[in-house]
Amino acid sequence: MRLGQFVTEGGVQVRVWGETDVLVVSTPIPGVLRVRLAPQARANGLGFPRLTEKRSFALHPDLPEPERLSVQEDGETLQISGGGLTLQLNRSSGAWRVTGGQDGGPERELASVLDWSGDAPTARPAMTAERFNLRRSRLSVAAPEGAAYLGFGERVGPLDKRGMQLTFWNTDCYPHHTDTDPLYISVPFTTVVQGGLAHGIFVDETWRMTADVARTNPYALDFASAGPELDVYVLAGPRPADVLRRFADLTGHAPMPPLWALGAAQSRWGYRTADDLRAVIAGYRERNLPLDSVYIDIEYMDAFKVWTVNRAGFPDLKAFVKEAAKEGVKLVPIIDPGIKLEAGYDVYEEALKNDYLVRTARGDVLVGEVWPDPAVFPDFTRPEVVAWWAGRHKLFTDAGIQGQWNDMNEPACFSLAQPRETEGKTLPYDALHGSRSHLEMHNAYANPMSQASRAGYAKYSPEIRPWIISRAGYAGIQRHATVWTGDNAATWSHLALSLPMIGGLGLSGIPFAAADVGGFGGDTTGELLARWYQTAVGYPFLRNHSAQGTVDQEPWRFGEPYTSVIHAALELRYRLLPHLYTLAHLASQTGLPVLRPLALHHAADETALRTDSQYLLGYGLMVAPVMAAGHRGRQVYLPAGRWAAVFNLAEFGAVHDGPAHVTAEAPLHTLPLYLKAGEALPLTEPAAHTTQARWPRVTWLAHLGETGFVGQLYEDAGDGPLEGRSTRLIGDREAGRLSIRREAEGAASLPEQRETLHIIGLEPVREVQGAASFSYEDGVLRLTLPARWEEVTVTWVE
Ligand code: GLC
Repeated sequence: MRLGQFVTEGGVQVRVWGETDVLVVSTPIPGVLRVRLAPQARANGLGFPRLTEKRSFALHPDLPEPERLSVQEDGETLQISGGGLTLQLNRSSGAWRVTGGQDGGPERELASVLDWSGDAPTARPAMTAERFNLRRSRLSVAAPEGAAYLGFGERVGPLDKRGMQLTFWNTDCYPHHTDTDPLYISVPFTTVVQGGLAHGIFVDETWRMTADVARTNPYALDFASAGPELDVYVLAGPRPADVLRRFADLTGHAPMPPLWALGAAQSRWGYRTADDLRAVIAGYRERNLPLDSVYIDIEYMDAFKVWTVNRAGFPDLKAFVKEAAKEGVKLVPIIDPGIKLEAGYDVYEEALKNDYLVRTARGDVLVGEVWPDPAVFPDFTRPEVVAWWAGRHKLFTDAGIQGQWNDMNEPACFSLAQPRETEGKTLPYDALHGSRSHLEMHNAYANPMSQASRAGYAKYSPEIRPWIISRAGYAGIQRHATVWTGDNAATWSHLALSLPMIGGLGLSGIPFAAADVGGFGGDTTGELLARWYQTAVGYPFLRNHSAQGTVDQEPWRFGEPYTSVIHAALELRYRLLPHLYTLAHLASQTGLPVLRPLALHHAADETALRTDSQYLLGYGLMVAPVMAAGHRGRQVYLPAGRWAAVFNLAEFGAVHDGPAHVTAEAPLHTLPLYLKAGEALPLTEPAAHTTQARWPRVTWLAHLGETGFVGQLYEDAGDGPLEGRSTRLIGDREAGRLSIRREAEGAASLPEQRETLHIIGLEPVREVQGAASFSYEDGVLRLTLPARWEEVTVTWVE
């Protein structure tokens, strides 16, 4: 028998082992079963038969006590149950399956592992002798016919990754194309959707890994890792949203962003001095274009030395931060991990003296090239290095900076002083992080780097919510930073690609991802930039960024009609901020992304499952941008439900019954948007920049459904502690009558708010009670609500 013996440890862990292999089962949170597989554990020196404690970069550090397990033995079968799930293990073959039903879902098989195996190293871990067996441990999970595989981190291609071969190896990759793999971020987590039901599979390995998603064998999802173990989590559904919630509970929730980070941002690799940035801010203000932040690229440093400021370009950073703040603009400087190797440079000297740097397999400090050349690399995988780097943030916090852009943290390395085997432009496989190889630590590198950033702000600026964006990441990065999709290009294909990429990241636990608006590489055009801004109206954050040497792409650079179209898109973004901020809050509570692929809420609809040229902003607002040159309309898929054309569609208020494909007329100034019946959105008025997330004026846009509508609004100071207030707007419809009220939760007192309510989908109105005034025109009822209103009723002729 492959796994003859077993023992239950502390009631929360079952360990099973045989001659060579070990399997350990536990239930970290309800609805999630963890199976640690260690094939060849005896030969691999993994503490056989008891595995050594593992440090995970993905898991939330303070998970609650694990659930209790019960075990039944029936001949060769072991049945281990806990947290609502059951694992059945065939001890002869090692095959296992997980069944269960959670949150009202049917009892069913979630995952069936056909096989897992591994190789013992031919020599002791001397990596040179082993020559990097990249398929050292293997796992084969049954891939049911028709199942879709969503997520898997940052990927090109369609939302459903079935049929793809994926590599988990964070890569600085420029340019990327519609087939490029891998990219900058590795999240080995997928939501499997079959017949409308979902479950998740997460393999928590930072080692280089591949996944063959029913490509070579159409019936198997095969993982192969360069590491000696496979740490597998099976997450119950039944809906994709349940899987995401459990993944967020397991790996940590993304912190609530400050409001300003959701406003418009401008960036360019090419702004060199404070004067350049001044001119950009003035450019926005002169044209009355909304702007909340400007990102500062590498030129602000002194000779690309991190944690320095070049005084010629930025004579007084603190004063400049203040000056920008007067215009309502925050500054977000870049930080790269590579440290310039230069005698006397304090960051380098400290790192060297304290042994904080990554070393070669021979034990010398590893030297490479990034922007600084030569450069050395801090080993963030060690807590003392994280603490040291966190301390460096004082340079920024003293200047009043509240946001940071962590780049090149795959880590990128253009060349090596001591060339060794590697993959992509990074450190060699056998470089050393303490005693661990880069092959194991590479994918993890960006997480502790951003953890250090967050710790730095927490220490020196505890009163604010820092906004940290990172280019690379591993599962769990959302606890520390959000991400952008790296160096895209100013092409229509990249615009279209941004939606499945951001959507896929959202389905991988990263709810605030975005792509560079306008495209980073290559010259953008007026039409592309305008359509990109429209597409980005619902990006979780909205940053225009471009590479040096490309044409300028600030919103006004292409003249009319483009500037006006972009102006309108930005104003729409600012009108939507109460909704976006509410979604951001929801994301931080539930793991649900801001920009949602249709698959998330329409998993049983095969067309919705595979539609990735449009997205839902929240539950009920469909955004269907035009993403092709010269097109003045498009086909839009509307899933089941009634959908009203809203905002700037010429057919405003027209209602379509889904599921259906409809044609949207979309001349350049039009972004097709549809609101689902039963939904109400909180909106406000456009502004030059954000201030507080306590909106002095709120307009609810509601689409009346069969039972009425519901809207949600979260408000607070927009920064600092989460002392907010959630309001639910509830419209109850019954036999020709609609009564509207609100329910509020939370301590914060709100200033007087002026509320209006626009309702689409009403028959001619007979009477309105409780409103300050109203008008009814073309099927839209517009109500002005009195201060401190309690109930409004509307009756109509049915
Ligand atoms: C990398 C980043 C890009 C940045 C550039 C210069 O390519 O991805 O956003 O502008 O480096 O720092």
